Amino acid sequence: MTELSFVHRFERGARPESRPLLILHGTGGDEHDLMPLGKMVAPGAPLLSPRGKVLEHGMPRFFRRLAEGVFDEEDVRARTHELADFIEAARKAYGIAVPVAFGYSNGANIAAAVMLLRPEALAGGILLRAMVPLAKAQAAAGLGGKAALIISGARDPIAPAANAARLTAMLEQAGAEVDHRILAGGHELSQGDVNLAREWLQGQEAALAAAS
Ligand code: MLT
Repeated sequence: MTELSFVHRFERGARPESRPLLILHGTGGDEHDLMPLGKMVAPGAPLLSPRGKVLEHGMPRFFRRLAEGVFDEEDVRARTHELADFIEAARKAYGIAVPVAFGYSNGANIAAAVMLLRPEALAGGILLRAMVPLAKAQAAAGLGGKAALIISGARDPIAPAANAARLTAMLEQAGAEVDHRILAGGHELSQGDVNLAREWLQGQEAALAAAS
């Protein structure tokens, strides 16, 4: 077992040459939760899935929040760098390429923060039920040539689609090409998310193969 700074799960997959997914769970989840979805979205791809280090009443998360939807932005920044450093170390340890993030809820929010603050750490992102993680993230132009898929739920009270639209604008300002889709449901995931994510990833294959 490789010594890395996050408890995590790694599966090399049957197609180890394909673009890896960095799997990031929601509040109260762990490194096992979204592995089945990751396998549906990117069959055979290497999967790297860390467990968030912050505990909220015993529930793992990737950064602290002060209330529902109100984030401790100092902690968001520190945890974002910690996660980006882990990605780098895990890439070396396992010999994998820069991953595409596949995050849900709190995991989508830390993925968005990594894209904004450490754009080199990710090749792109699939952000499910995401919201703006940092109110005043400086729009560095570091996401040129990278793409993100954001999927919101039309009746999601936790991560409203209007908030995800603001995140879309922030990522676009930093140079990313963002596809923001809105499904009929709420905060929960559905087969529609898996289908959209898989199609989007297949559409990105050529661009991702050309990236570092
Ligand atoms: C967050 O705290 O990141 C969002 O409110 C989503 C959640 O984890 O409930």
